[in-house]
Amino acid sequence: MNCSDLIIIGAGPGGYKAAVYAAKKGLKVTIFEDVNVGGTCLNVGCIPTKTYVHSKDFKEAVERQPQVVEALRSGVETLLSHPNITLVREKGVFINANTVSGVTAPNIIVATGSSAKMLPIPGADEQNVGSSTELLGLKELPKRLCIIGAGVIGMEFASVFQKFGSEVTVVEYLKECLPMVDGDIAKRLRKLLEKRGITFYMGAGVKSIEPTPNPSLKGGEQSKSFPLGEDLGEAVLFEQKGKEVAVEADYVLMATGRKPNVSPDFANAGFEYDERKGIAVDENFETSVKGIYAIGDVNGRQMLAHAAEMQGIHVVNRILGIEDKIRFDFMPAAIFTEPEAACVGPTEDQLKEQGVPFECHKSFYRANGKALAMNETEGMVKLCCEPEEGKLLSAHVFGAHAADIVQEVTAYITLGATLRQLRETVHIHPTLSEVLIEVN
Ligand code: NAI
Repeated sequence: MNCSDLIIIGAGPGGYKAAVYAAKKGLKVTIFEDVNVGGTCLNVGCIPTKTYVHSKDFKEAVERQPQVVEALRSGVETLLSHPNITLVREKGVFINANTVSGVTAPNIIVATGSSAKMLPIPGADEQNVGSSTELLGLKELPKRLCIIGAGVIGMEFASVFQKFGSEVTVVEYLKECLPMVDGDIAKRLRKLLEKRGITFYMGAGVKSIEPTPNPSLKGGEQSKSFPLGEDLGEAVLFEQKGKEVAVEADYVLMATGRKPNVSPDFANAGFEYDERKGIAVDENFETSVKGIYAIGDVNGRQMLAHAAEMQGIHVVNRILGIEDKIRFDFMPAAIFTEPEAACVGPTEDQLKEQGVPFECHKSFYRANGKALAMNETEGMVKLCCEPEEGKLLSAHVFGAHAADIVQEVTAYITLGATLRQLRETVHIHPTLSEVLIEVN
């Protein structure tokens, strides 16, 4: 039987970063990965998507995607070639609470990630219906793309495929897109994308998808009754304000959330888990079995690559008896549409619900010199803080490089700084960051 100090199942951003950090600290690590190192984020998520965002057209995006992914993947493989790490290229299977596929260790981290949650509706398995993974695998640009769900994935793909020239329609069950984002910002982003030509059906629950002959490819008229025929396109059927509506598309992206990757062998370890919610963990990401931890999407807490990474670092610190002050309650997030939207901390509505006394300060990109020079005048910043320019509570930004701007505020919030201290920090002129000290 092989022995390690730490077993990690899954080499996504949570797993591989934890492995490298633990190895550098002197632990002997065995990490299992049965697909590709880098996980969803590197292979079929954040990285390919950002390559699309930064490509001028679909052809360039399709060509560059494998090159970028391959370069990063080989970087991760190099990191995992550390002498303290054994990478096992197979599925790690729990035999008992200390043993995974013939390897034993006193500590185990489960970092198995998540997969796309497909709606259980008729037609979900049609040939031209898929998740973001399948959409990223298309070699031909769909002329008409229908996206179900206006969450993070739906909005990012709507923005980029519209730029490439697809006719994009988004169908969303809720009244507004991006429910986790400040309402003002979500509305501004949707309106901007609408102005660019994306059609949004809000308050519309999709009920089924039917194959339809694809008249656009044959140069014919749009079919109204969707008779079964040559399966070249799909019709997405939904109800809006009591009316049945149908949208025809060459491809349908289902962006209706993700589900944790759990496996029946978890039962051999004895910790609590649920198919829908994932593995139950405490504030230190420890499961109900001591010494077994679950980090990243599989614990269903915050489905973000950087959240997984920081959770992994925290767990390794716990194993080594190192105290850290990572603030999991202030998790910044960004939506990589064009322009970006990003946030950290509670929205205005959440602060109101919590009964927290606060004030809200705003500024607009159109008054910022750098934004004007960049021709990026569409955007706004909202900072919430305790009264009288007190402790910063949250930041919500919509506009070019919103993620970088929110990152700056995240540093202030993490250190417990006030809005006054932010204003007193010298900002280089001219920069987009000045929008922060320009808040009214
Ligand atoms: P999501 O949970 O953000 O959004 C799903 C949307 O689908 C919701 O707005 C929901 O109301 C809608 N929906 C569900 N059923 C529907 C129906 N029958 N008809 C119409 N609409 C329906 O999920 P999404 O966008 O798939 O993302 C999954 C996860 O991946 C999220 O946790 C997200 O944070 C993460 N992610 C983060 C990224 C980032 O940080 N930039 C990028 C991509 C994903």
